[in-house]
Amino acid sequence: MIIPRLDRIAYGGDYNPEQWPEEVWRTDVALMREAGVNLVTVGVFSWAELEVAEGEFRFGWLDRVLDLLHAGEIAVDLATPTAAPPAWLTRRYPGSRLVDRDGRVLGFGGRQGFCPSSPDYRARAAELTERLAARYAAHPALVLWHAHNEYGGANPACYCATSAAAFRRWLADRYGGLDALNAAWGTAFWSQRYGDWAEIEPPRRAPTAGNPAQQLDFLRFCAAEHLANFRAERDILRRCAPGVPVTTNFMIAACKTMDYWRWAAEVDLLANDHYLRAERADNHIELAMAADLSRGVAGGAPWLLMEHSTSAVNWQPRNIAKRPGELRRNSLAHLARGADGLMFFQWRAARYGQEKFHSAMLPHGGTETAVWRDVVELGGMLRTLDPVRGEPVRADVGMVWDWESWWAAELDWRPSVDLDYVERVSAFYEWLWRAHLTVDFVHPAGDLSAHPLLVVPSLYLVSTEAAANLARYVEQGGTVVVSYFSGIVDVNDAVHPGGFPGALRDLLGLVIEEFRPLRAGQTVRLDSGATGDVWAELIEPRGATTVASYLDGPAPGGPAVTRHPFGAGVAWYVSTRLRGADLDGVLRAACADAGVASREDLPPGLEVVRRGRFLFAINHDGHDAKLPAAGTELLTGARCDGVLRVPGGEVRVIDTGR
Ligand code: GAL
Repeated sequence: MIIPRLDRIAYGGDYNPEQWPEEVWRTDVALMREAGVNLVTVGVFSWAELEVAEGEFRFGWLDRVLDLLHAGEIAVDLATPTAAPPAWLTRRYPGSRLVDRDGRVLGFGGRQGFCPSSPDYRARAAELTERLAARYAAHPALVLWHAHNEYGGANPACYCATSAAAFRRWLADRYGGLDALNAAWGTAFWSQRYGDWAEIEPPRRAPTAGNPAQQLDFLRFCAAEHLANFRAERDILRRCAPGVPVTTNFMIAACKTMDYWRWAAEVDLLANDHYLRAERADNHIELAMAADLSRGVAGGAPWLLMEHSTSAVNWQPRNIAKRPGELRRNSLAHLARGADGLMFFQWRAARYGQEKFHSAMLPHGGTETAVWRDVVELGGMLRTLDPVRGEPVRADVGMVWDWESWWAAELDWRPSVDLDYVERVSAFYEWLWRAHLTVDFVHPAGDLSAHPLLVVPSLYLVSTEAAANLARYVEQGGTVVVSYFSGIVDVNDAVHPGGFPGALRDLLGLVIEEFRPLRAGQTVRLDSGATGDVWAELIEPRGATTVASYLDGPAPGGPAVTRHPFGAGVAWYVSTRLRGADLDGVLRAACADAGVASREDLPPGLEVVRRGRFLFAINHDGHDAKLPAAGTELLTGARCDGVLRVPGGEVRVIDTGR
């Protein structure tokens, strides 16, 4: 059970009673019960309401809220409100303000306007956390702690003097001495040698591109500072309330700056926030990817969807409303992919402030609305679907995901501005989704052995350890598909010696003589019939067989796609940007090598996922779809003997009994 004191699929959202007169609270609790809500996140942004001036605490209102929720049998995920320091703190401790790369001190009026390394911020956050923990540790409504909110969301990095000093301490700890730092950063280049720690700065805006190794270390440092802040709060909460899990909400796939592989080891359960990119019609594929990544980072364990939206998301350029049935399809797709709880931002739509046009479980229009009816219906469905909780998702294919490599791949002065890490991961993911294959995400140095096929999209930075791990996987019988701009640099952004792709040269059985990136809009034709763009390479095979060659472009006649038997396995390499059906050739052949049966025969637009003995079929098309299945359908209670019909836009969940 992800939340020991909650023995149901968690259902609810962020609840901000401080924005409402007290007489509304009772109605809230009654309506929560009507909707089947069993968990709400309270207090996320209430610092100024709880500590009205330094050391002046007002907990009375929160006492009453928690008591009321408890009386209504609604459990509480209590937040530390440290993501929104109050005005008094900002004024009293001006050194705690966030400073951007250009040296500008950012203003008050939003949230997360603080420097993550500020000792004043840290001290005040710890004090409030201590008070909250002491006061509510034994409250019967409390089942989960929610530290902060989306660490690093608005303040990933601060460039102030305090941050600079903390960065230097972090570097001293990492490198021990300046010689090691100079070597790691390659400071012989452009006269950058450091002779004193005090000379080192955060990578503030410079007249040219900054030192890439310095930038990478700064990204590592910033992520570590946020993680240290989480740990500090978590340790207080754990000490005061042993047994109550502590988490914080990630923004997996959407957040570049936090290395959530590191974070996952520190939280008691993984919680994620996901918001659809509303304008894309097939945005459910990106949703599936974020859900699979959440589960992957959680090591396969069930996780909690801490926030998603019932309909429009206000911070997007156009606040597109969800289509009929979309709320249900989105929520149940997260459930299918391993979530044991479905929460929303937020319970009641706000009347004022920046987020008043954001959808909510209870919209401005109240209960006479389609959104409310959908929310109530979903609450009912989750009661029926409760047996799914805790079951493991059964995936078919592994895929590598790495934040550090993402950072490094997109620093300045790369060989093409069109290199885009998430685009590459998404393109391969999308092909697998359309082939009805479920993906488990893994760290490049993690355990790769669960699946016979592993996709490695543009893994630019590869440590020696990860390179050995990937080679071992193939040697022992695995099949990998590696895409271009992989295995190029080490952890300090230094090129692996001996020719590209140094870390993967032997595994792939080839040398890249030269990158040959394409002009904007230029395409290259392959003799397989596929068309690529963005990138091409001049490749010299050293053991690999050419499976497809370039017909034109900057490397005509040369290998474009190669295959290399290595140990007991096979390593595929794709040297140009292929998308959609242009990936058919290589991915079908790699599936065949790996013995993965692609399920391209199933109807397009139908999302099919197995979670334990349950089969989820989510129809994103307007037309009926059919698939082979037998068992009891949980939502309708109908028996299904061989063929399951899923009406357009609907979801079916079969208990297959095995
Ligand atoms: C999240 C955040 C919430 C709310 C939401 C709106 O990123 O955690 O507090 O702002 O976005 O979509």
